[in-house]
Amino acid sequence: MSNDAEAALIDRDAAHLIHPLHNRAVHAQGKVWVGGEGAYLVDANGDRYIDCLSGLWNNTAGNGRTELIEAATRQMHELAYASGYTGSSNPRAIELAERLSRITYPNINHFYFTSGGGESTDSNIKMARYYWKLRGKPEKTKVVSRVWGYHGVTLAAMCCTGMSPYWKMFEPRIPGFVHIPTPYPYRYEAPAGSASQGIAAANELEQKILEEGPETVAMFIAEPVQGAGGVIVPQDDYFPRIREICDQYDVLLVSDEVITGFGRTGKMFGLQHWGVEPDLMQFAKAITSGYFPLGGIGVSDAIAEVMLESGEPWMHAYTYSSHPTGCAIALAMLGIIEGEDFPAQAASKGHRLLAGLKTALGDHPHVGDIRGLGLMCGVEYVKDRATKEPFDANDSVGPRIHAATVERGMFSRVRGDVYCLAPPIVTPEQTIDDSVSILADATRAVLG
Ligand SMILES: Cc1ncc(COP(=O)(O)O)c(C=O)c1O
Repeated sequence: MSNDAEAALIDRDAAHLIHPLHNRAVHAQGKVWVGGEGAYLVDANGDRYIDCLSGLWNNTAGNGRTELIEAATRQMHELAYASGYTGSSNPRAIELAERLSRITYPNINHFYFTSGGGESTDSNIKMARYYWKLRGKPEKTKVVSRVWGYHGVTLAAMCCTGMSPYWKMFEPRIPGFVHIPTPYPYRYEAPAGSASQGIAAANELEQKILEEGPETVAMFIAEPVQGAGGVIVPQDDYFPRIREICDQYDVLLVSDEVITGFGRTGKMFGLQHWGVEPDLMQFAKAITSGYFPLGGIGVSDAIAEVMLESGEPWMHAYTYSSHPTGCAIALAMLGIIEGEDFPAQAASKGHRLLAGLKTALGDHPHVGDIRGLGLMCGVEYVKDRATKEPFDANDSVGPRIHAATVERGMFSRVRGDVYCLAPPIVTPEQTIDDSVSILADATRAVLG
């Protein structure tokens, strides 16, 4: 294809399409993807790129997986769609719920399906409020989440998301959504005399619950490893202390596993790293490797029992809940995840990626932090390594590094000046090494 093919498509795109995070200036330099080959994307000019964010953290199995394509085709021939509303079900949704109850946390055995992550956040907020009403505590409605947390952008999910640029043009936010600082090992400053940084960061939750009044707080939602906020891996003592606080004040712990679920961090689910069980969980993305929009929530036995015995309908519904085609693809995907041991692959390839980044960039004067868990890593660029002073946003360091990687055949995303790497779990080791070389080369090109 000619080099003008992509530019011509971008012109047509600009005339009629509105994009997520629509930004005309950014989009003018956009890519138009026409093909996918395993861990690579192909643009409209025919050029190949390493898909260093697995699409949007979701396509862990890579492109062209016939198991997923055939599961979709088979199911569409058999029954493309059926309602999942109460009074209707389908075998694939039943099988998927059974299978999830075997692989998620032992106390999580009940599932409600959605079309993605944001809908799952809303579903968990409504499940938590419904539960506390059934328990005779209707005033427990507030939601605590964290700065740099990302939980989607439906209005309620947006209020959980802890990044103010997502709110600015949509205020006012829903009352009763509050944020605490994040356990950011590189930047969190624990008060003097704290037992540890992780305990201090967890105690921020206790302080917020006490400030708001425990009788008003319904839930705390957190990603085991923050993804879109810049790959922030918590300290090992953080989540065990969070669990204690939630138990002490009767606050439900919601694990947002939309990115960390199904192997990405080197365990099947993120909180397994620290031996912690949530009360509610949510997932999306990798459950279908992005081949179909499917997500869901997992509900603990204790909450489900209250729900099932109440006789009070849960008046919450999506047309595409329990979509048979989505569930069929998810079942085929679980076959891949278990058959190819995605958690083990992510652990070993993630180790290789992190070690490679540290070797290639660890001494660079503008690389402040290199971090990761499993196959999700982040490189944080700073103006001054000694003081951790960030670059001025007007320097556009993150976007310039991103542009330099695109020129060198790799595509991902940045959060400010943090470059995120979360390639498909099937990525060959040579490609992992290539992604390190490309980022190192791009870094030198932009920052010397
Ligand atoms: C942790 C987390 N939760 C929720 C969401 C929202 O998912 P969706 O974009 O499918 O609504 C995302 C999306 O990146 C996410 O990373």
